[in-house]
Amino acid sequence: MSDPDAEAMRPHPQLTLDVITIFPDYLAPLHESLVGKAIERGQLAARIHDLRQWTDDIHHSVDDTPYGGGPGMVMKPEPWGRALDEVAPATNPTQPRLVIPSPSGRRFSATVAAELAAEPWLMFACGRYEGIDARVVDYAASRMTVDEVSLGDYVLCGGEVAVLVMVEAIARLLPGVLGNVLSAREDSFTDSVDGLLEAPAYTKPATWRGMEVPAVLLSGNHGEIARWRAAESQRRTAQRRPDLL
Ligand code: ADE
Repeated sequence: MSDPDAEAMRPHPQLTLDVITIFPDYLAPLHESLVGKAIERGQLAARIHDLRQWTDDIHHSVDDTPYGGGPGMVMKPEPWGRALDEVAPATNPTQPRLVIPSPSGRRFSATVAAELAAEPWLMFACGRYEGIDARVVDYAASRMTVDEVSLGDYVLCGGEVAVLVMVEAIARLLPGVLGNVLSAREDSFTDSVDGLLEAPAYTKPATWRGMEVPAVLLSGNHGEIARWRAAESQRRTAQRRPDLL
């Protein structure tokens, strides 16, 4: 399968990702679409690890009841400690930045995505149940930068979907990963649009089911088009996300 010539031509990945999860198959979509292409081209390296390989009991258990009582289960620290030590050995002078998806984390945004896209190595620790024993975070933080990051004010069943979201937002910021380099900069929530939402987009045909594309977009007048888009951005933002204004 591995052609040594093709291997030698492979660029050094701009970003290496290690994802630790008890559901490795959940991360399969990473191999689709733009992120998948970036992996194929060698711009991005993604390694998915099954946390259960670091369990030491016959049942491969990863969780236990919470100290202090309460509902649900907490992920045991031992498998996580072994996983961290194997994926990023403490003796290794280069350490990844660790991202732990959690509803109790700081909020993910375009700014956080850009910050993470600037790193050479990211490790994602996917928690399930009521989260990971808090000592794991302290242990990791003794040798690497750790961010607990939340997608929003709702609770997912685990970190896997959050990792897919974050990796997609991060990967498209890597130089050369998007087909159209300009579109990443102009998308909603990036600084170049002053944090406004994007104007609506249209393509051919000009008339569809009796509905017309706004005439200005067919005018060829780039100044007018830019003004129309700016006004639409403003209008949409005021209507949908007044908090951004
Ligand atoms: N895990 C569970 N809920 C989450 C959320 N809202 N964001 C990120 N990770 C999570």
